[in-house]
Amino acid sequence: MRYGGDEIAHKILFDLGLQNKFSNYKILNAGSGFGSDLIEQANLLPNSNFIGIEYNKKYADLSCKIIHALGLESRIKIYCADLSSKYALLKIREKEGLFDGVYSNLAVLHIKNKKLVYDNIYKLMKENCKFRNEDYVSNSFTDIKFAEDKIGCQNLKTISEMHNIAEQVGFKNSLFEDLTSSWREFTKNRAFNYANMQDKKSKIKENFLNDVALFFTSKNGSGGVFIHTK
Ligand SMILES: C[S@@+](CC[C@H](N)C(=O)[O-])C[C@H]1O[C@@H](n2cnc3c(N)ncnc32)[C@H](O)[C@@H]1O
Repeated sequence: MRYGGDEIAHKILFDLGLQNKFSNYKILNAGSGFGSDLIEQANLLPNSNFIGIEYNKKYADLSCKIIHALGLESRIKIYCADLSSKYALLKIREKEGLFDGVYSNLAVLHIKNKKLVYDNIYKLMKENCKFRNEDYVSNSFTDIKFAEDKIGCQNLKTISEMHNIAEQVGFKNSLFEDLTSSWREFTKNRAFNYANMQDKKSKIKENFLNDVALFFTSKNGSGGVFIHTK
């Protein structure tokens, strides 16, 4: 479930320019999954506060339990909400105010209306802050149907379409770093490691990982990091 491990959690803070452990930042993870990145970052930035937005109630509940067990509930809060719901995100803004930085790891690819998500996130950010979105994108080889059926991608966009969306909602100075080749290695290793686990619990998961690996080892898949500034 978690992509990239603690290394990514550190890199995100670097890319967002939020690394001063004495500062009191407010940071949002859009599509926070089990909350692992938030937990690692809460340890790195002991004076900062973190919010996760996670649509899947099971993941949201589990991450809350883990956060409580670690005694971090005063600094990490999880909302079970849909990133494409204007209403839900306005409610979060009313409660939490604006953020110093926002990131999302492999969540926007699953959401059909990417412009709405970008617009909702933009409205949660302070001026001059950054949104770091690590995401899949399509290229001229991408089999959109395969991506939809096997990876759960919805309405996948190209790099330039994502840049256009960012510009339309008001972001400026958007950058993109291509991570396709490192993702290829990562997905290949993950599928290989899972297939070699002695106690294989789920054939479904093994098939899913094989599909993801197949997607990324062919020309189909590409992706990387967008950094947009408000
Ligand atoms: C591939 S997982 C990545 C999870 C986490 N960011 C990580 O790096 O491990 C995608 C996550 O996005 C969440 N998600 C998908 N659609 C969403 C939506 N509309 N609103 C909020 N979260 C969503 C999923 O439930 C899932 O937890």
